[in-house]
Amino acid sequence: MRKVNFTETVLRDANQSLIATRLPYSKFEPILETMDKAGYYSAEVWGGATFDVCLRYLQEDPWERLRKIRKKMPNTKLQMLLRGQNILGYKHYPDDVVRKFVEHSVKNGIDIIRIFDALNDVRNLEVAIDEAVKQGAHASGTICFTTSPVHTLEKNVQMVKELKKMGVKSICIKDMAGIMGPKESYDLVSAIKDAVPELPVVIHTHCTTGLAFMTCLKGVEAGADVIDTAISPMSGGTAQPATETLAYALRSLGYQVDLDDKVLIQMADFFKGVRADFIKDGTLDPISLTTDTQCLNYQIPGGMLSNLISQLKMMNAIDKLDEALAETPKVRADLGYPPLVTPTSQMVGSQAVQNVLAGERYKVVGKEIKAYCRGEYGRTPAPIDPKIQKKILGDTPVVKGRFADSLEPEFEKTKKELGATAKSDEDVLSYIAFPQVAMAFFKDREAGFPKKADPAKKAAAPAAPKAEDLPPMPAWQGHVYYANVPTATANGYTTRPIQPFAASYQPPHLMMGNSGGSCVGSYTVVVDGKAYQVDVAFGDAPAAPTAAAPAPVAAPAAAPAPAPAPAPAPAAAPAPAPATAPAAVSAGETPVNSPMPGNVFKVECKVGQQVNAGDVLVVLEAMKMEIEVSAPVSGTVKSVAAAVGSTVNTDDLLVVLG
Ligand code: CO
Repeated sequence: MRKVNFTETVLRDANQSLIATRLPYSKFEPILETMDKAGYYSAEVWGGATFDVCLRYLQEDPWERLRKIRKKMPNTKLQMLLRGQNILGYKHYPDDVVRKFVEHSVKNGIDIIRIFDALNDVRNLEVAIDEAVKQGAHASGTICFTTSPVHTLEKNVQMVKELKKMGVKSICIKDMAGIMGPKESYDLVSAIKDAVPELPVVIHTHCTTGLAFMTCLKGVEAGADVIDTAISPMSGGTAQPATETLAYALRSLGYQVDLDDKVLIQMADFFKGVRADFIKDGTLDPISLTTDTQCLNYQIPGGMLSNLISQLKMMNAIDKLDEALAETPKVRADLGYPPLVTPTSQMVGSQAVQNVLAGERYKVVGKEIKAYCRGEYGRTPAPIDPKIQKKILGDTPVVKGRFADSLEPEFEKTKKELGATAKSDEDVLSYIAFPQVAMAFFKDREAGFPKKADPAKKAAAPAAPKAEDLPPMPAWQGHVYYANVPTATANGYTTRPIQPFAASYQPPHLMMGNSGGSCVGSYTVVVDGKAYQVDVAFGDAPAAPTAAAPAPVAAPAAAPAPAPAPAPAPAAAPAPAPATAPAAVSAGETPVNSPMPGNVFKVECKVGQQVNAGDVLVVLEAMKMEIEVSAPVSGTVKSVAAAVGSTVNTDDLLVVLG
């Protein structure tokens, strides 16, 4: 009987793909000891976006998270995802940083390091693999699966042979976009098994297009040894196929599966609660849970799709999603068919968004795309379109050879610079990977982590009022509407507790009419003996008050108004504070406006400074990319409206030149 091993992804990839990696340690800690008994081959718990999000949004030290998981899960191999020479960031790092990062990952508890390069350029894998081997960890050499006219079986087999020479202990086929079908899976696993029969083969895919279960099954039939799955409540959609489902199916087909079903049930019960909480606060978008066959054309990885949706929403440009998705494969072809995986997925995705939002292709180009076109990320699978390369680079020369060879060692130098700010070598590595984010984290840590808003949480505004906070409801009143209470969920269903109804209360008629016999209207739902009023509406529209309803009462944040009193009109939403200070533009002066929505990352000019056309004035951060805004003409800087850290929209004034 052939054994099939399972890697559980709930804490890393499923977390990243479904809820933008927003699962804090405190929320999953209670299940770790149970998970440790499930019988997994490994648990993927770290790397990918977990590191960045811990520092940026969760006020968690990612290294400490890893140590805590290690302690709670002594019997399970802990696995991480590492982007080769990019470690966990979005650019190339010098070799000393890559080695230090691998060393400390292993020291803090990692057993298996899955190492990939976005371009499948093995020169970008060798240092990380070499260090993992030296540290006694299991290096898993990874092929980023993609399809294009230049990606052939022979090319993949060639890469696997090179990985074997470097000392990897397994080969992972990483299908980050969920585009690998059962046939491709069968053919590729067969080819790899023929070429390197002694190396276990791992299949990593996503359910995005609906192919994943078939892909895993055919891969196993061809000889795959390990499959990546996610516990059912956090599976499907942009995440992995369900652990329990594949365990059941493979067992019934005669494979040995050493997972404990009782433990899986406990885990599923636990994560049902987690899922419910993230649906409630708007972080888990139902779109991420559906099957999207568009990905078969667009090759959008799970994490990228949910990020693209949330970023476009933040820019108030979600209506551009289809256009951005259609532009993506065009950008990819222009850039020589890179597989779409971090960081190339962010680069191609944000370039597609910029091409759409700017109204002209490659008018706005991120710093990373410029670096990519220079060859800083490695060899592209096919040549970059020369016309586009020229438009992006101008006369900037192209890199020859392996880019990391040209980088100066960085670790010791940075450690010295940080001095007492860094409490450990791990802090230094966090800082090197994400300088601005890590520095903000260190400051927050000093200050005892003051509360911050998370843009992923739509309902970050006032929480639904508690029953006891609401004004008493007169017996005659059927509906109480609270102006300014945000919708709690993404799908238009809003719930809020109200006072239990008085005995004399007459329930109002259900409103069934105004959408062609649909169930739109106002309902009373009783849960555990407590009455809840539920307004049901389509999409994000607020539920319409029923005809019988009295006018809205004031928001609960205001003093509770006696319900029968004439209700104030809902207050107009306060205008958002201007992101940039107002600055006047006089005749003869040139305004420099933001080409797209984003955050001001750096201001590189001062009032009174002489600048030449093409000089960088401001650097924006948008879609995780740095966008340089340059002077359109030469002149003197008259005023600077952009403030570091502020949010800007398209056409917001940044700088005035005169
Ligand atoms: Co993945």
